[in-house]
Amino acid sequence: MKSETVTITDNSTGKTVECPILKGTYGAPVIDTAALYKELGMFTLDPGFTTTASCRSAITYLDGEHGILLHRGYPIEQLAEQSSFLEVSYLLLHGELPTADEFADYESQIKRYNNVHEHLMRFFNGYRYDAHPMSIMVGVTGAMASYYHETVDVKNPEHRMQTAHRLIAKMPNIGSKVYKHGVGEPFIYPDNSLGYIENLMNMMFAIPSEPYELHPQAVQALDKLMILHADHEQNASTSTVRLSGSSEANPFAAISAGISTLWGKAHGGANEAVLEMLEEIGDPKNVHKFVDRAKDKNDNYRLMGFGHRVYKNFDPRATIISKACHEVLDDMDPNSELRPLMEIAMELEKIALEDEYFIERKLYPNVDFYSGIILRALGIPTSMFTVFFAMARSAGWIANWLELMEDPDFRIGRPRQLYIGSEKRDYIPLDKRG
Ligand code: SDX
Repeated sequence: MKSETVTITDNSTGKTVECPILKGTYGAPVIDTAALYKELGMFTLDPGFTTTASCRSAITYLDGEHGILLHRGYPIEQLAEQSSFLEVSYLLLHGELPTADEFADYESQIKRYNNVHEHLMRFFNGYRYDAHPMSIMVGVTGAMASYYHETVDVKNPEHRMQTAHRLIAKMPNIGSKVYKHGVGEPFIYPDNSLGYIENLMNMMFAIPSEPYELHPQAVQALDKLMILHADHEQNASTSTVRLSGSSEANPFAAISAGISTLWGKAHGGANEAVLEMLEEIGDPKNVHKFVDRAKDKNDNYRLMGFGHRVYKNFDPRATIISKACHEVLDDMDPNSELRPLMEIAMELEKIALEDEYFIERKLYPNVDFYSGIILRALGIPTSMFTVFFAMARSAGWIANWLELMEDPDFRIGRPRQLYIGSEKRDYIPLDKRG
């Protein structure tokens, strides 16, 4: 069968190049432009990579037009309802849902790895008491490279999977200690009589002087939130991890780079920025003022939690979280300090979804619009929201790192550019300059 191609012609020279069209399981086909530079001496230019496929991947599929999100083929709606974050992390890493024995073995490995070296605790002392939690996450996760450097050969598949299991195991330990550092409470060690999410919450909220009661609804809500944030195709932070990993950097250092990228409020930092925005709005009657600012071309203000590079329809994760959010509001104590914020959020959602500016630009609430409200309802401070995002997304990051390192086309990532700087010119000695 004749392989499908596109013909690109340089009309100034008449030279042409045939570029193969590659098709995947689902989604837009891609044009393999590898021959472009060799045949026409040209690169492609795509700031923000809006139409660039950076890799072949079998992990996650997104359809932004139809609001579809699949992890290894399984719809996010089914995973959120029937699975657990730990099981989804296995699925992302290994490509298949585990059998009972496989999951039991995986869970025992995660419990075996969930402690961190005692010396790692000393890193926390170097941070101010009020350091942003993400600044600590970046540093302490990167510091783990110092404990697993000589012993990790990134070319060894067993070392790679062991690293992946270590990361999944240790992120809740580090994330909970980031919280403890901020509130000045003693660090709590993992308790392996507990499940993965229970352990995380216990390490965060327990104090040595009294027992900590885990609420099943809170555990379930947090587990669901972590599933919804586990992976999301080649987003900015995942692409960062891939680019770092492509130089054969230490995987913990590559994950630390991903955490740095996630921190930005255009990306994972949006959930924290949503709560700050709701607090700034302060009252449902002020919503119109903020919506008008977001629409004003002369004001670079944006509504946090709205819009998405891929989803030009609803974000399926937002639909799932929005339902949980409304349940939280219905069950909420009428006097809860969160209720006014929820009411502002609902008013903002209503107005924005009816406004031509948002409809025309297909700006819908994204996962971050609602996740912060549930995290706050679980007693998690705003500054810790993106830490939760990072703990969940570490599963997707390390799954992508594994896939990158196993890719037959593995090579260091090295984009080119369109140079628009000065023409060649000679150096002028200081005493000859104007
Ligand atoms: C995440 O990639 C992923 O998958 C990310 C993520 C994941 O799981 O990894 O889903 C997580 O990062 C979700 C997004 C969280 N960020 C926010 O909520 C921040 C607010 N949203 C935006 O800044 C913005 O929508 C982005 C960054 C999310 C997407 O930006 P794009 O795709 O580059 O869109 P754009 O900047 O080209 O905007 C298109 C138009 C512009 O107007 P015009 O110039 O056409 O007139 O829409 C406008 C923008 O001004 N616009 C907004 C807006 N977002 C876009 N206007 C007001 N408020 C907004 N939030």
